[in-house]
Order: sequence, then C-alpha cells, then structure tokens
Amino acid sequence: MLLKGKNIVITGSGRGIGKEVALACAREGANIGLTSRTREELDNVKKEIENIGSGAKVVIVTGDISKYDDTENIFKTLHNELGPLDGVIANAGYSRRGSSDTFEIEKFRQILDVNILGVYYTLRAALPHLRKDDKKNKARFIVTGSGVYQTVMPLFAAYTASKWGVVGLVKALAAEYKKENITFNIILPTMVDTRLLRGRKAGDGNKDDFIMNPWDLNEYYLFLLSDEANRINDELIYTQNFQQVKKIINEAPTDKKENWEIFQEYLEERNVKLFNSVKKLRKFIEFLLLRRK
Ligand SMILES: NC(=O)c1ccc[n+]([C@@H]2O[C@H](COP(=O)([O-])OP(=O)(O)OC[C@H]3O[C@@H](n4cnc5c(N)ncnc54)[C@H](OP(=O)(O)O)[C@@H]3O)[C@@H](O)[C@H]2O)c1
Repeated sequence: MLLKGKNIVITGSGRGIGKEVALACAREGANIGLTSRTREELDNVKKEIENIGSGAKVVIVTGDISKYDDTENIFKTLHNELGPLDGVIANAGYSRRGSSDTFEIEKFRQILDVNILGVYYTLRAALPHLRKDDKKNKARFIVTGSGVYQTVMPLFAAYTASKWGVVGLVKALAAEYKKENITFNIILPTMVDTRLLRGRKAGDGNKDDFIMNPWDLNEYYLFLLSDEANRINDELIYTQNFQQVKKIINEAPTDKKENWEIFQEYLEERNVKLFNSVKKLRKFIEFLLLRRK
C-alpha cells in the first residue's frame, strides 16, 4: 500500500474530485480527514471508505474554508484525532458563470475567498500540524488549481482570476518554505464531471468525452503524496499533458512500456512536443508505468 498509515486531509471531500481522492488515499492505506460544509455528504464518503475495509481511520470536521476560525478548528481537531499530518490537499473550490458587466459583486468576492483565501487559510491552519521533521519524508501541500490557468474561458472572470492567483500563492509558498521539509505543488485539471462544472447533471453518464471523470485525477494526487515524489516541489502539473501520456501508455506495445528508458524514446517518437513538456516529471511517468504493469 502506497500510503500505509499516513494521515491525509482533503478539503472539499464531500463530493467530486475531493471525494474520489479521499477514497483513493484510503484504498492505499491512509487515514483520512474529511472536510467541507455539508455533513451528510461527508458521512456518505466516510461510509464508502469504511466499506473498503482497509482499516483506515476517518475523521469528519465540517467548516467553511473561507472563514479562518472554521479552518483553524478543522485542522486542530483533525490533528487531535489523527496525529501529525503527512499531507494536505487544498481542493475545496467554488465557481459561477456570468457576464462581468452584471456579475454579482458579492459572488465575485466569495469565489476569491474560497479559491484563494481558502487555500491560504488551509496552509496557515495546517502548518503547525504538519509532520515536518523528516527530510526523507516531507510533508505535502497539494493544491487543486485549474486548466483555466493555461486556457482561459470567457464568462469565468472571477474563477479564472482566483485560479491564476492561487498559482502565484503556491509559487510564493514554495519559495518561502524552500528550506523546510514540506513540498508545494499544484495540479491543473481541465474539465471534470462534477457539480462545479455540470451542476446536478454531474455523473449522469451523458458527459462529453473530453470531460474527465473525477477519479481520472486520483493518480496525480497519489503520486504527489507517495515516497517517489519526496523531492518534487514547486511543480505545475497540467492534466491535459498527462492524460495524453496515459493514453499513449495504454496504447503502447508491452515491450515499449517496460520502463522509462524504453518508453521515453517511444513517447518522443509519438509526440515530441508532449515529450518535451512532460519529461521533467519523469518520476510521475515512471509511477504511471508501474501502476499499469
Ligand atoms: N470540475 C471541474 O471541471 C474542475 C476543473 C478544474 C479544477 N477544478 C477544481 O477542483 C476542485 C474541486 O471541485 P469539484 O469539481 O470536485 O467540485 P464540487 O463537486 O462542487 O466539489 C467542491 C467541494 O468543495 C467544497 N466547498 C466549496 N466551498 C466550500 C467552502 N466555502 N468551505 C468548505 N468547503 C467548500 C464543497 O462542499 P460544500 O459545498 O458542502 O462545502 C465540495 O465538497 C475545485 O478547487 C475546483 O476549482 C474543477
């Protein structure tokens, strides 16, 4: 098991991406801290984790991540119940579509509050509770950003601003805490079939093919939490690139995906531009290769 005995907290874990990551971490043996504002959703996730039967401890604390007092209480309680935290995934997020000339000012503010301040509050409240005493096993702070950082979408000005802002925040934190045993990385997913993107239609089986399932992201988080990623820091991970890499791995003849040395030549032949943009994260590709054996 990849995360046996580790304590991982995922904000926004009542549904969508956060829920799937929580289940994936529990399947890998981690104890899980679940948090969002909706108790009922968190209770359901807890039940699903318990059904896995990994023996993972699951603790729920509700709260609004855009309020510092709530966030502080979430992390104090989780630390008391679980012990020092090995990884925190700042995933809770919020979005609304609308023309900028009529967009409700208060909504604009709320989006920035959840998506930027919420991530800062999460870091601030989590810092005293992170296990930061082991250079070989650094604490992980992972943020769910967005592909809008790469490809801007009209009618999402507040969301886009917030997701650009959080890239700056992660980069600033990585620089500031460079000498501490903690890594900061950000995953930038393109569209995912969740309530944030598709409202109540999420999960109805009628999504377009280019829209990912929330569980398609699990490996990104699992990798960053794993021992293999101990030295991965200050990275922006574009799912658009790695979803292509995954497809190429799945289609490759068995003898071309034995290991990175062999696969890298194959990948370069298939798509040199993609190869050049992903080769720095060779460790992640090795992780993907290994999991497909
Ligand atoms: N879906 C996509 O296409 C997509 C693409 C790129 C990035 N993302 C990012 O992925 C992350 C997860 O979103 P999702 O797509 O999984 O959406 P989702 O299904 O709507 O889940 C969002 C989660 O965040 C929680 N949350 C929202 N506001 C909160 C607050 N103020 N305090 C505490 N928790 C809060 C929600 O719970 P409560 O409402 O119960 O609090 C829920 O658990 C977000 O950061 C989003 O920006 C999504």
